[in-house]
Amino acid sequence: MIRPILIHPDPRLKKLCDPVAQVTEDLVKLARDMLDTMYDAPGIGLAAPQVGVNKRLIVMDCNKAPIAARPLILFNPQVVWSSEDVSTYEEGCLSIPEQYADVERPEAVTVRWVDETGADQEETFTGLWATCVQHEIDHLNGKLFIDYLGLMKRQMITRKMEKLKREMARGGR
Ligand code: NI
Repeated sequence: MIRPILIHPDPRLKKLCDPVAQVTEDLVKLARDMLDTMYDAPGIGLAAPQVGVNKRLIVMDCNKAPIAARPLILFNPQVVWSSEDVSTYEEGCLSIPEQYADVERPEAVTVRWVDETGADQEETFTGLWATCVQHEIDHLNGKLFIDYLGLMKRQMITRKMEKLKREMARGGR
């Protein structure tokens, strides 16, 4: 099931999310809905607060055809190691449509999480996967990629989003 994605600015995108105490059937259903919503958008990552759920859950898939899809569900994801080397990607966000900006982050990160079966997982991500997982974990801490930009640029994007939301509310797009 595809769920509506919250658009910035929204107070629900600025909150610290709660850890998941136990992986339940309902939470796995939510994660699958989030994957449907992400693929439909289309996007490469989505965090629970973006669909209005204040829980530490992200989904992602940075593979592009012809490489096989690799949908990942991460409960309580935690960065346990970051490389000193950094890389810069032009990031975007499904909650900030059509806005892109360069963000510098560690080039590689090791992340620990609980998967949809309740098992502990650990993996070192590099390249786009590393950027994406850090971007999504930021969402769980109420942080957006525009928070890395200068004040002027951030305010400009926020004003554009306020305008977009007014147009959406009027049914203009
Ligand atoms: Ni995002």
